[in-house]
Amino acid sequence: MTDRATSPVLLTGGAGFIGSHACEALLAAGRRVRCFDNYATGKRDNIAHLLGSDGFELVEGDLRDARTVAAAMQGCAQVVHLGALGSVPRSIADPLASEAANLTGFLHVLEAARHLGVDKVVFASSSSVYGDSPVLPKREGAEGAPLSPYAVTKAMDEVYAALYGRLFGVRTIGLRFFNVFGERQDPSGPYAAVIPRFILALLRGERPVVHGDGRQTRDFTYVANAVQAVVAGLDCSDPGAVGRVFNIALGRSTELRDVLAHIQQRLAQRVPSIADIVPEHGPDRPGDVRASLADITLARQVLRYEPKVDLWQGLDRTIDAYAG
Ligand SMILES: NC(=O)c1ccc[n+]([C@@H]2O[C@H](COP(=O)([O-])OP(=O)(O)OC[C@H]3O[C@@H](n4cnc5c(N)ncnc54)[C@H](O)[C@@H]3O)[C@@H](O)[C@H]2O)c1
Repeated sequence: MTDRATSPVLLTGGAGFIGSHACEALLAAGRRVRCFDNYATGKRDNIAHLLGSDGFELVEGDLRDARTVAAAMQGCAQVVHLGALGSVPRSIADPLASEAANLTGFLHVLEAARHLGVDKVVFASSSSVYGDSPVLPKREGAEGAPLSPYAVTKAMDEVYAALYGRLFGVRTIGLRFFNVFGERQDPSGPYAAVIPRFILALLRGERPVVHGDGRQTRDFTYVANAVQAVVAGLDCSDPGAVGRVFNIALGRSTELRDVLAHIQQRLAQRVPSIADIVPEHGPDRPGDVRASLADITLARQVLRYEPKVDLWQGLDRTIDAYAG
């Protein structure tokens, strides 16, 4: 067994959006971090400021390669697994790519954890596992049928995590993130998340495209809250947390059009002409859910997770970071 106090945390997807913030938070908490990424969607730029920091290591590697994953995990007592191909539409366009990175990649992590006897694997799942269930708020145990290959990969990750606990004693904690946003989230490309996409469009003087009527709701979660859950998952000593999954969100739902209005208003304080831009409405996207809201009671009780940054504060920080 490797000493968890002194050994590095293996952090897959560490060069990504949430991953780069998680690297920072763990380093700030005095932990050593071994960041693992293949830059499929992450960027070296996201962690450039950490290179050379005490306790920070960077390993370029691919989750789809079992040996590389096992080699990177050597000497690590704990693992944070965030590496994956995100985006529902990406997975509909290319299910095999999502399966390879998200499901086979995670199995490689679990297998290495099993054979190396790591203490704990905290992994990213997603609110997409609630699929077609109309029930609000979303509560652990009341999942619906998945609406996309991405959701299938995350649902199967959860099933495998629990199975590895039962069969091999691998201790896992799953975090079902709900629409995380914040600084460094990739704003460009066809699979960009909605908040950075809106900000970038408005900054360019372009009309932001809203899929559907804009009245769909999401439980938008500022990245610092998501990262707090990652750290809480690693630190949690409650045996009742092991083998379980937890909703990680703000616990409030907001209509997309209200988020857009807030972004537009704030950016218009810098560039007044932005106030005149009229959003464009496109068709609904296949695989998207209409409404989302998390019940975060379980994470509060078991992980001691408590979101500290509300939506509007988080949005203002994000907008300011993109606007420069
Ligand atoms: N951002 C959200 O709203 C959200 C919501 C629910 C779940 N999640 C999950 O949280 C995790 C982090 O998401 P994010 O928003 O930071 O996305 P991201 O795309 O910024 O980060 C994912 C990282 O994984 C890396 N990666 C992908 N395939 C890889 C492979 N084969 N080998 C090694 N590295 C690989 C990417 O290069 C990237 O750095 C993902 O598992 C995602 O599914 C995110």
